[in-house]
Order: sequence, then structure tokens, then C-alpha cells
Amino acid sequence: MKLSHRITNLTEGGSDGWDVFYRARRMISEGQAITELTIGEHDIGTDPVILDAMDASARGGHTGYAMVPGTDLLRDTVAARVQIRTGVKTTRDNVLITPGGQAALFAAHIAACNPGDTGLFLDPYYATYPGTIRAAGAIARPVQTHAMDAFQPRESEIERFAGGAVSLLINTPNNPTGVVYSQDTLNAVANVCKNRDLWLVSDEVYDTQVWEGNHLSPRALPGMAERTLVVGSMSKSHAMTGSRCGWIIGPEEVVEHLINLATNTTYGVPGFIQDAASFALNSGHKLEEKIAEPFRRRRSLAMQVLGGQQIVGLIPAQGAMYLMLDIQATGLTGDSFANALLDSHKIAVMPGESFGMAAAGHIRVAMTIADEKLVSALQTICDFAAQLAENRGAA
Ligand SMILES: Cc1ncc(COP(=O)(O)O)c(C=O)c1O
Repeated sequence: MKLSHRITNLTEGGSDGWDVFYRARRMISEGQAITELTIGEHDIGTDPVILDAMDASARGGHTGYAMVPGTDLLRDTVAARVQIRTGVKTTRDNVLITPGGQAALFAAHIAACNPGDTGLFLDPYYATYPGTIRAAGAIARPVQTHAMDAFQPRESEIERFAGGAVSLLINTPNNPTGVVYSQDTLNAVANVCKNRDLWLVSDEVYDTQVWEGNHLSPRALPGMAERTLVVGSMSKSHAMTGSRCGWIIGPEEVVEHLINLATNTTYGVPGFIQDAASFALNSGHKLEEKIAEPFRRRRSLAMQVLGGQQIVGLIPAQGAMYLMLDIQATGLTGDSFANALLDSHKIAVMPGESFGMAAAGHIRVAMTIADEKLVSALQTICDFAAQLAENRGAA
């Protein structure tokens, strides 16, 4: 039987850039001790106080179908949080609760793109972006950003591809680069979107992990609320990756249509998960800070290690749980370096190329292991890079 092009073309075939990750997983299953720095998942589980709220809700009977758009409580809670943080008037009618940020990314592109339209995304990018745009039937077109600009996008480059496109997907704080977009960058992005009549899909799932500067939501910029679809999630802010609870925020009429999409696809998010999310969001900053704190601390430790040498470069680590390291002085690609590091030192990192060609010659390190192990792994990475660079010089 023939399958649709939409499903067979999702990953465009070939390597999906996760070879090192799969190889590390295989080595672990064979009993090898691998230092795992590939994946963006906390090294803690969901906080027991959130689990208690989940348990109480489920035992209290909230185990049936929940309201498809989300419970009133969670929609109101998310709306209030966004309004306080951005100053943009937001009510429950601007909010759809989704099974994670990923489902919100898909919903946003279904809302913005007709089949055959072009959806832009910035390279380097979170692994699912091109597939998500294609899943909506659109053509996914990368727009390069550059290490020399600390991966802040340039208005001229977005402008170059904007003609004929209908949407632009951005992510700040950024996975994989750890960069937080500046006010100037977001103004430039907003200018192109307004001039070229693009939808802006703003992935803000790391908005509680900001180490330098401030998180700015482009929905708050003049004239942007009516063309911006914001993606949020409990996954990163509250270590609730497995609960699959996120949201999309947009104009009321868009949310009305997205409720139809949810009715015909996911049919909502479990009520006890939403109650746990409402509890967590209403628990205030302390809980969020507790979850972000290990990454803030490890980022400082990482800067100390990396500051003590000159071979491995660090892209300014302003937010999120990742470090983007420049290993071009070794003469290797990110892919060759990551494979060699895994073989010789049993440390698994992601090649920059897994996130697009703009990150070639880099590796991404997730700060998701205990402090002293991270420090030791970073020291080994620096020593390994120095050795490679020296061998290169001697050759
Ligand atoms: C940039 C970015 N967006 C969205 C997601 C999806 O998160 P979730 O579906 O768990 O909310 C992730 C997960 O790693 C991510 O890194």
C-alpha cells in the first residue's frame, strides 16, 4: 500500500543527525559507562509536591475526558501568567492547552500554513522543527544564523527568504545554542513579519531558564499580538517532560479554530495533569527557580572550566540547559569530534551538524548531569580538543 508523501517525507530520509546519540544508547545498554550529555532532560524527576497534586486530582475523580480547550483553571492560570510577564492582555480565550509544546508547534503551523506554503525556521534549530512544518503540509525552509553573530538572526537574511513564505518560527531562549534573543533582534524579526505579512511562531518553552539578560516575548511588541502564536510548556520550567502539558497562545479567532483541531486530533490533555500544572504554576517563582537553579550553577562552573583554555570556544550561554561549543580549532567537524570523543573518552555530546549546517564545527553539551561530573567531562573535552589541535599543528 502506498503511504502519503506527507508521512514519508517527514524526515526527508537519510541520517537524522542522531547517530552519536543512538550509538551512546547502544553502548549504555551493553553495560559501558557513558557520560551522557546529549539529551535535554533534567536529571531530576517531577517535584513530589506536583506529583501529590496530580495524585489528589486523579483520586478526586478527575480521570475522565477533560474539556478539550483545557480546564478553565489552567487556561486562566496560563493567561494570567502571560499577561503579568508580557503586559499583553490575555484571557482564557487566547489559550489552548496542548499535549506538550510539540503539539502546540504542530497546531501553530496547521493554523498558519496551507499545504505547499513555505514556513521559515532558523538554523541551528531544535530537531523537530523541519518535520513539524512538513507535518502541516508546508515546505520547511531554513534561514541561516551565524556563530560570528552569536547566532542572533539577521534581519537581512530573514528578509531574503520572507517573500513567498507565510510563517517564521523562532526560539528564545534557544535550543541548541543557549542564546537569548536581544530586543534589537526581536524588533528586526517583528519588522520582517509585519512588512511581509508573516505569522510568527514564538517557541518560548525555555522562558524560565535565563542566565543573562531578560526573556522578551515578541507578542508584546507593537502590532505583533495579532500575528504571533506563542508556544509554551511545563516540560522544561517544571521538569514535567513526561506529563505532556503545554499551550499555544494567540488571537481568539485562531484559538477557536485550534480547538476544532484539538477536538479532531488529541481530544485534550488529561485533567489530573492539567490540575498538577495549575498547581505548579500557582506555586510561584520559587518552584521554577528550584528547577532552573542547577543549570544556572552548572553554567557558571562550565564558564570557569572553559575560561581556563583557548582551544574550545563558548557561544554566549545566556539561557536554556545547553552549551554550544566551538571545536573548529581541532580541524574536525562536530560530527567527527563527537564520534571520536565517544570512542576515546566515553562522553556523548551532540554534533552541531545535528541541528543544521549553521552549527557545523560545534558540539552541544546538555548540562544535565551532576556538577562535578559535568566539570570533569568539560575538562576532558577541552584536553581532548587541545590534543587534537596540537596534533594538527604538528602534522
Ligand atoms: C526548543 C524546544 N521546543 C519545544 C520542545 C518540546 O517540548 P515539549 O513537547 O516537551 O513541551 C523542546 C523539547 O526539547 C525544545 O527543546
